[in-house]
Amino acid sequence: MSKTYKIAVLPGDGIGPEIIAQGIKTLNAVSEKFGVDFEFNEGLIGGAAIDAEGVPLPDSTLELAKGSDAVYLGAIGDWKYDTLDPAIRPERGLLKIRKELNLFANLRPAVVYDDLISSSTLKEEAVKGVDIMIVRELTSGIYFGEPKGIEERDGEKTGFNNMIYKESEIERIVRLAFDIAMKRRKKLCSVDKANVLDVSRLWREVVERVAAGFPEVELNHMYVDNAAMQLIRNPKQFDVIVTGNMFGDILSDEASMLTGSLGMLASASLSTKGGTAMYEPSHGSAPKYKGLDKVNPIATIMSAAMMLKYSFNMDKEADAIDRAVQQVLKDGYRTYDIMNEGCTRVGTSQMGDLISGKIKEMNFALS
Ligand code: IPM
Ligand code: MG
Repeated sequence: MSKTYKIAVLPGDGIGPEIIAQGIKTLNAVSEKFGVDFEFNEGLIGGAAIDAEGVPLPDSTLELAKGSDAVYLGAIGDWKYDTLDPAIRPERGLLKIRKELNLFANLRPAVVYDDLISSSTLKEEAVKGVDIMIVRELTSGIYFGEPKGIEERDGEKTGFNNMIYKESEIERIVRLAFDIAMKRRKKLCSVDKANVLDVSRLWREVVERVAAGFPEVELNHMYVDNAAMQLIRNPKQFDVIVTGNMFGDILSDEASMLTGSLGMLASASLSTKGGTAMYEPSHGSAPKYKGLDKVNPIATIMSAAMMLKYSFNMDKEADAIDRAVQQVLKDGYRTYDIMNEGCTRVGTSQMGDLISGKIKEMNFALS
């Protein structure tokens, strides 16, 4: 009997449930087409979990995630929780699951599809052919450094966080980035702020040390402010970018706009070998679009493709999703965020139907 892959589905808040539904549609199409089996089990996270159980990541969700072959997450957060104690805000649920599953490596591919070039705010010659993989450290750095807080110092309120990296934490993310670069165009750019931050000086030292084991990879270092500028000036110079948690958060949002929309940026968060990985779009929960059947589900659908590739070793199935997405775009269907003249505007659910429909009708006899 073939294996049934257990997927923990955490739709979350805002548009999360709508986009996740399109991902599941797509995975069901893959299942039908290729004869692979998925079992979906839903759990609560973020605001949805706060409403039901008073905490952003209930133990039951964590157990479900740990007992699954992969986690498929929508998005979390809503303005209505902005006034909550920071310790139980929806974002805490996301940070906690990343930490608990040891998801230290966040892969965010920014790929410009030819059919979407005109959706980018940049010129065609700047973005045509862009294919960047951002490797963001996800379980350390300033997001998790202690001590942190707001306290009274010298008679006034003072806020503080700590950007902390241990050598071992830098080494494992950098090694993974080199491995990824070896399978791509063999170029790696490490982004830091070593002209100002001590933690970045250590980062750079470790990168240099790891680089000695990868002589074929062309390595360069870039300060984060320059990297932000270079991504807009000439994005084609980048192949793989490796960086810390907060710089990666910022640069990945920026890189998404090269592709035309934040709605196109998928992501995979990986643990050490054998650990459960998590897949989610890089964008947020967009509460103002909740329930409107309006937003772009492609980042979520492409995150499912990453799940097939990285967690289940299903390369041809992942490729089928990618081809189906490209074909639907070629056919001229667009959600509002990537709408172009002469194209047909569709909603979230119809985009999901079109992509899953394409998968079902594909002919793989020769592939
Ligand atoms: C992301 C998001 C999260 C982050 C937030 C929601 C905590 O912006 O996944 O990029 O900062 O990591
Ligand atoms: Mg972000």
